[in-house]
Amino acid sequence: FVQVESVQALASNFGASYYEVPDRYIRPEVEADTVIEKGSFELPVIDLAKLRDSQFSQAEIAKLGCACGDWGFFQLINHGVDKDLLERVKADITAFFNLPLKQKEAVAIANNGIDGFGHHFVVSNEQKLDWADMLYLTTQPVSERNLLFWPTNPPTFRDTFDEYSLKLNKVTGELLVAMSKDLGIQSDVLFNLFKGLPQSMRMNYYPPCPQPEKALGLTAHTDGVGLTLLLNVNDVQGLQIRKDKMWFGVEALPGAFVVNIGNVLEIASNGKYRSIEHRAVVNTTKERISIANFQSQCHLETVGPLPEVVRGGKENYKSLSYGEYFKGYFSAKLEGRNYMESLKI
Ligand code: SIN
Ligand code: FE2
Repeated sequence: FVQVESVQALASNFGASYYEVPDRYIRPEVEADTVIEKGSFELPVIDLAKLRDSQFSQAEIAKLGCACGDWGFFQLINHGVDKDLLERVKADITAFFNLPLKQKEAVAIANNGIDGFGHHFVVSNEQKLDWADMLYLTTQPVSERNLLFWPTNPPTFRDTFDEYSLKLNKVTGELLVAMSKDLGIQSDVLFNLFKGLPQSMRMNYYPPCPQPEKALGLTAHTDGVGLTLLLNVNDVQGLQIRKDKMWFGVEALPGAFVVNIGNVLEIASNGKYRSIEHRAVVNTTKERISIANFQSQCHLETVGPLPEVVRGGKENYKSLSYGEYFKGYFSAKLEGRNYMESLKI
């Protein structure tokens, strides 16, 4: 990726006074879009405690299946990740982003790498830029961690994210079993496809922006991974998801995860589940922080429709190796569903 400057530093250079956002951050498409405001529609809510309880699980699994097929997004409540841990996660990532730029650059993304502090998906000097900085870490399996890019400031950061990473793997594992049941396949099929539960986290920092109607915190995209759990860190909203050619602003429930299906699960389910375009918008007054937890499939398994789902019917997507798939995802400019559409048969 091409290196670009910190947006947090850029925004703070201008101070509190009104200024015009530099041209490279101006996105003419944003103003023209139809946005359905948060509060005027309901994103499905899935209760993990019900999925765990044999008395309620069947109905909840059906609800989960509808959410994955219709919206590709849902809110997950009663997930059992304790409040205390979530508070520590929030405090540590906030403390990291509040460090002086020089200290954050101690874990800057290195040449050709993806872990660290900086920006992804910038492939040319002309391309439009997102109004955000991020820290990206490979978190599971533990053997894949590169601690060079794990902050030591705040001092609790590494322990907190180690604990958080394990807890989230447990939650995604449970969701994969429930999804297998919904898809009518053996309950361990998806779990096996995701063997070892490879996981990474993208922590986003969106500074306030004086012209939020002209910029984007994060370009519209679909997630390349299997399943994403998003934690809204500071209760400032900004996620929008695309459905029926409109954008819907998501109001994350306090304490819930916003979960979405990624490309790999859409492909594995042969299109029964949908990997939906989403983006992040910014606002004039408040910084926003979010953490996306990405669950990838096992790197040794093929990316393609599962034979158990296709059952001799028509495959709707090409099959390719994990390496080929991800090379394509990361070398394409992050842009809507373009890459996914190219994989359709
Ligand atoms: C993401 O899509 O990775 C994050 C979106 C958000 O910050 O709401
Ligand atoms: Fe995403």
